[in-house]
Amino acid sequence: MAIGITALGAYAPDRVLTNAELERMLDTTDEWIVSRTGIRERHISADDEFASTMGVRAVHDLVRRVPNALEGVDLVVCATSSPDALFPSTAALVAGEVGLAGVGAFDLSCACSGFVYACASAQGFIAGGIAKKVLVIGAETLSKIVDWSDRGSCILFGDGAGAAILEEVPEGYGFRSVVLGADSAGGPSLYMRAVADRIPGVERMSDKTGMNGREVFKFAVRVLGDSGQQALDKAGLTSGQVDWLIPHQANSRIIDAARQRFGIPEEKVVVNVERYGNTSTASIPLALCEALDDGRIRDGDELLLVAFGGGLSWSASCLRW
Ligand code: ACO
Repeated sequence: MAIGITALGAYAPDRVLTNAELERMLDTTDEWIVSRTGIRERHISADDEFASTMGVRAVHDLVRRVPNALEGVDLVVCATSSPDALFPSTAALVAGEVGLAGVGAFDLSCACSGFVYACASAQGFIAGGIAKKVLVIGAETLSKIVDWSDRGSCILFGDGAGAAILEEVPEGYGFRSVVLGADSAGGPSLYMRAVADRIPGVERMSDKTGMNGREVFKFAVRVLGDSGQQALDKAGLTSGQVDWLIPHQANSRIIDAARQRFGIPEEKVVVNVERYGNTSTASIPLALCEALDDGRIRDGDELLLVAFGGGLSWSASCLRW
């Protein structure tokens, strides 16, 4: 059975926070941020916008593109690190707002690797006969949880949401491979506090997020390359056959290092980190939507999705559009 994405939507809040504004808030410069990360601006949610409300907006965008897309949806999976609440799940909140109250709904926590993980979950539910049509959401309001006094991390993140429908597609299309991984040895390098005040390797956690940027950078370059290659091998493809590399949008230098590792030319990589920053689970659907809207991705194109994040975790998939 081939399972693919049959509809997509995305949303980013209206408010744009530029590096020039950050210069006035923090001891930083536009030059430092652009040269280290490639980020020029990011979208920031309003006070009354949360993962669920942005997820709903992304679903509305999806329905605008494919009006009957929600018909027959029997499961909703939301990947998020910034849920409205630990429960009810953000997936259930979105489902209730878009006419899907009553269908199965749950959240998935895998930091920035979450969208590809959620797509993998959807594929498993469909292939196992538990669901037929799954609404996958990636939604984040990271601006509400980052430490705005930490100039090394707060400059990286932005808010947004994406939504996708996964269901059976004609043979030859859809997801061709999935690679998932996580290693808690890297947990101390990137974490967000919840209930406990310690995790292995961190005696006392900071009140919000903790990040060792250099460690995450090295890890990201390595796992994007390794997991992307594994996804290609599983799909029986070479990097030369990839039409579009769609990486998690964390940092343009990380993306470029991964691209070079595959030998994929710059013009075959979808990059929008300069306008959105790192939107975690929303970044891949935001990039996919943009490349579909402007006609870069076409029917039959071979896509390679790669992501990394807290865990430390990673995920990759080959997808024939
Ligand atoms: N403005 C100006 N100077 C800064 C800033 C800033 N915003 N932030 C840090 N600096 C300074 C540091 O204090 C340091 O100064 P020092 O040398 O006097 O001590 C210097 O710049 C270099 O700092 P580094 O942290 O070594 O800078 P680096 O080149 O590693 O870049 C960065 C930092 C951009 C965070 C990079 O390491 C990175 O992108 N790492 C990956 C992080 C990431 O992607 N995290 C998200 C993962 S996805 C998820 O699951 C959420």
